[in-house]
Amino acid sequence: MTIPVLTIDGPSGAGKGTISRAIAKQLSWHYLDSGSIYRSLSIAVLNASVAVDDIPAILAVAKSMQLEFDCGEQLTVKLNNEDITQHLSLEETGRVASIIAAYPEVRAVLLQKQKAFQQMPGLVADGRDMGTVVFPDAQYKVFLTASAKVRALRRYKQLKEKEIDANLAQITQDLEERDRRDQERATAPLISAKDALIIDSSDMSLERVIEEVMNLIQNGLNW
Ligand code: C5P
Repeated sequence: MTIPVLTIDGPSGAGKGTISRAIAKQLSWHYLDSGSIYRSLSIAVLNASVAVDDIPAILAVAKSMQLEFDCGEQLTVKLNNEDITQHLSLEETGRVASIIAAYPEVRAVLLQKQKAFQQMPGLVADGRDMGTVVFPDAQYKVFLTASAKVRALRRYKQLKEKEIDANLAQITQDLEERDRRDQERATAPLISAKDALIIDSSDMSLERVIEEVMNLIQNGLNW
């Protein structure tokens, strides 16, 4: 029997994490925050003092790292038995993650780790290439986006809530740089799957987006 998958792809700060977590909770499905896998590798690479262009060394780190995810109310991640949750949302972690995510060999190593999340009764997977590369046969696909201005402001508020020092102008610049890298890379670029429902959440409330995604799933299930 096919295990149902809902993929939610889109640029940084579009609200994928919040929406995915809410939908996974409503459906009692598993949740894959694929960005946190790239972020964990970024932390492992920084910890090992490996240069971001040393692909063989990055691959060695990727192959040997042990990751444990606890996707409860709050995501917690252990890297080689050490809790790295606090480091995941740092801007530097995200910046390095988007550089190493452009290497096809790195993506290939991380593919199986992501596919393993497809478990009964279902999976909500958020990222950049969930509907195009990792779960191309997913029954439900969403491409969630928002203007760069709105996304930068959301990220700024998120960091402030976590009491992490943040600068809006810097965040906007980093975000646009990261978007460009994600969209322009040759392997698994950030792009909407042909069969995805595109939602621009710039002027939508969280509740409204959740409603649209739930509609997609319910209508699909009624076919
Ligand atoms: O989603 P998040 O901001 O946590 O992702 C961090 C970085 O990891 C992204 O900027 C992107 O470069 C990379 N990523 C990716 N493919 C995914 C998820 C994240 O390339 N499926």
